[in-house]
Amino acid sequence: MTNQGTLGVLASGRGSNLEALLEAIAGGRLPVRPGVVVSNRSAARALEVARSHGVPAVFVDPRPFAGDREAYDREVVGVLRRHGVDLVALAGYMRLVTPAFLSGFPGRVLNIHPSLLPAFPGLDAHSQALTYGVKVSGCSVFLVDEGVDTGPIILQAAVPVEDGDTPETLAARILEQEHRIFPEALRLVAEGRIRVEGRRVVRA
Ligand code: GRF
Repeated sequence: MTNQGTLGVLASGRGSNLEALLEAIAGGRLPVRPGVVVSNRSAARALEVARSHGVPAVFVDPRPFAGDREAYDREVVGVLRRHGVDLVALAGYMRLVTPAFLSGFPGRVLNIHPSLLPAFPGLDAHSQALTYGVKVSGCSVFLVDEGVDTGPIILQAAVPVEDGDTPETLAARILEQEHRIFPEALRLVAEGRIRVEGRRVVRA
């Protein structure tokens, strides 16, 4: 399998999607080299996941940037570049990225969100879905733009909402699908197999 680039992952938390991506790479299902994992939280389990897979893990402390989000993002872009990254996955990254970040990797930043967008963007997607009363939810992988969960959608997967669901049980059912479609969407981008026509992502 030929590598189709170098992946950088930004993560703030437990890192289960990161693990799924690293396993997909190891299993030959995602033809990229894992370049670096960056977190805005020093205690993020994702940093340990990276190190345990032999992938460089870097904590970029937001505090010295005192609310200057663009300056923070330029710092992160610098870290990614130093590791040769040309494809970026936001995997539970709890910050909005700025245009300063996106212009560093045009059309090459993917995010995963645990709802069928455009339903339930932003925080607490599982609670939003249960409160609304939908019978089907799921997850979406999309190309990040300057909005909140608004970019062109690459892949989605649906799961049923069961009567007894709590945010936790629904999240667990959706997470299984996240771990399946995130590597798949990254593979499509890495292999140049999609193109964007307006809001629509189609097979190239
Ligand atoms: C996932 O549910 C993802 O969809 C959302 O944040 C969560 C991250 O989980 N963006 P993990 O850190 O990958 O386990």
